Amino acid sequence: MAQTQQQTSDTRRNIRRQQLHGIGIGRRVVRIIKAMVALALACGILSFLFNIFTLKQPMQTLKHIVRPAEEAARAGVVVVGGGLAGLAAALEALQQTQGSAVRVVMVEKEARTGGNSAKASSGINGAWTQTQQAQGIKDSAEAFERDTLRSGKGLSNGTLARRLARESAEAVAWLQTRFALDLDVVAQLGGHSAPRTHRRPDTPDGRAQPVGWGIVSALAAQLAEQPRFTLLTGARVVELLQTPQASGSAVSGVVYATADGQHHRLQASAVVLATGGFGGADTQGLMHEHAPQLASLPTTNGAFATGDGVKLGVGVGAALVDMQHVQVHPTGFVSADDPAARTKVLAAEALRGAGGLLLTARGQRFVDELATRDVVTAAITQACSTADSRATYPGTSPDGAAAFLVLSQAAADAFGHGALAFYVKMHLLHRASDVSELASALRVPQAALDTTLRAYDQVRASNGALQDAFGKRVFPQAAVNQAGGRAAYYWGVVAPCVHYTMGGLRFDERARVLRAADGSPVPGLFAAGEVTGGLHGANRLAGNSLLECVVFGREAGRQAARAAM
Ligand SMILES: Cc1cc2nc3c(=O)[nH]c(=O)nc-3n(C[C@H](O)[C@H](O)[C@H](O)COP(=O)(O)OP(=O)(O)OC[C@H]3O[C@@H](n4cnc5c(N)ncnc54)[C@H](O)[C@@H]3O)c2cc1C
Ligand SMILES: *[C@@H]1O[C@H](CO)[C@@H](O)[C@H](O)[C@H]1NC(C)=O
Repeated sequence: MAQTQQQTSDTRRNIRRQQLHGIGIGRRVVRIIKAMVALALACGILSFLFNIFTLKQPMQTLKHIVRPAEEAARAGVVVVGGGLAGLAAALEALQQTQGSAVRVVMVEKEARTGGNSAKASSGINGAWTQTQQAQGIKDSAEAFERDTLRSGKGLSNGTLARRLARESAEAVAWLQTRFALDLDVVAQLGGHSAPRTHRRPDTPDGRAQPVGWGIVSALAAQLAEQPRFTLLTGARVVELLQTPQASGSAVSGVVYATADGQHHRLQASAVVLATGGFGGADTQGLMHEHAPQLASLPTTNGAFATGDGVKLGVGVGAALVDMQHVQVHPTGFVSADDPAARTKVLAAEALRGAGGLLLTARGQRFVDELATRDVVTAAITQACSTADSRATYPGTSPDGAAAFLVLSQAAADAFGHGALAFYVKMHLLHRASDVSELASALRVPQAALDTTLRAYDQVRASNGALQDAFGKRVFPQAAVNQAGGRAAYYWGVVAPCVHYTMGGLRFDERARVLRAADGSPVPGLFAAGEVTGGLHGANRLAGNSLLECVVFGREAGRQAARAAM
């Protein structure tokens, strides 16, 4: 879709340019161009639909038009990485240098931008947003800050967490107003004291609008319109250039490698590292070094997540922080078609946020489904790892831990039909028309399953009079379906996966990368997004990563722009 928008806008720009330059275009030519635009649009929509319905990891990346490399041998600002942090940094740098000749160049190693940001499905946090207020949700930046710090277990940097929380409403508003993104579905996810994770509703005809993909495509489309912006794809940054200064050396550009093995130098006044984390399936990399016990787990990350920015930063003396803290997401979908796959599709947090339950192979609950990710992961590992407690598909025997995820119709409705239909289409969720069918699909005695679901609903209906055995306090939807109608249950098998790397480059609230030697900023070097460490401490709160990309990505862009003016 973004591709189409770009083609369209590029065509428009070409028309504009040709008119400006006085090249006479006859009506017929205009008609031909219009027809081509229409064709491009139709192709784009078709390929978008094709992507949704056929690919295993759909819509994760966006294609861009690569402009010639020689255009960019010198830039004001270089942004390394084209995920949300990089896109936000580039847009802000352009905004802050309006009216100047400062060029912003984004260097992306993949063929498309988007990164892991494009995969995000649960949403972005904002405290006391317009959307919350319109929906009567009570919240505050202070409560959000507390939740963030609590989740980080005392390791989060308070200055960074405060800035994140205080600027969260403005970050969501920026996306909503500047990019016309509808972020009007607000869910309460694990570890949050209020509903504050914003995502997009399904389209009126019931198609899912994944939040990460929607955000990065909207930002990328605006960037493509900017005359001072250049995107290089298939260009992997392998080194930071340095220039000696009185106070130690400053970063003054990058060296990037292209597929043909050539190395290219690109000078700049400021460099923003926005290369994401190191959670990709790369057993020899940073994960092996810093959290070896997790190196064999499956992962929800793209293979590009190899921590390049961490290595680049270390190369110029940057400090690292919290590298051993890796977030394992409790729920990656074990696919019925390929249970052993290393890269798994995330079972969105919002599935549990909408009322999804976790059960052992014996049909019993074992955890507050809305506890923080580390708690849920530990519980699955503890309760669902043995031959008779681990959830499996018939005839398969996966290693490690796995649980059943079960949604009632009410939970499915609350989650949204578009995304649900997508999971069903991919054979990740399965439908059962009643409890008896569900019990036989899970291969548990129906009586046991009945007891579990009814006990849950009793506690839920008691409004606090009864205590949940696992400490759950928020009960989004009933577990048992009302009889009759089209009501069904949905179930799948989920397993813990490497998901997010809390650690990374030490940085400050002005997005400056700090030195290992003395904690001073490395001149000319800024960072934002998952490549940084310190904000999330020992555990990141759901929805805080897209948010950090916007808050600190924009700050990095602002600071880099200042350095380039
Ligand atoms: C499946 C999934 C679902 C998620 N859901 C949510 C959610 O709902 N809410 C939330 O807040 N967070 C979510 N997260 C986490 C969040 O999406 C990421 O942490 C965040 O988007 C990272 O953004 P980023 O811009 O830092 O990096 P990325 O988006 O990963 O982008 C980094 C980019 O840098 C490029 N790059 C890397 N090295 C180089 C190099 N040497 N040279 C050039 N380019 C390079 C990569 O190719 C990539 O395109 C999810 C993560 C996953 C994997
Ligand atoms: C947070 O980071 C900033 C920047 O590095 C630092 O000045 C501050 O002391 C840190 N605060 C805490 C509480 O660690």
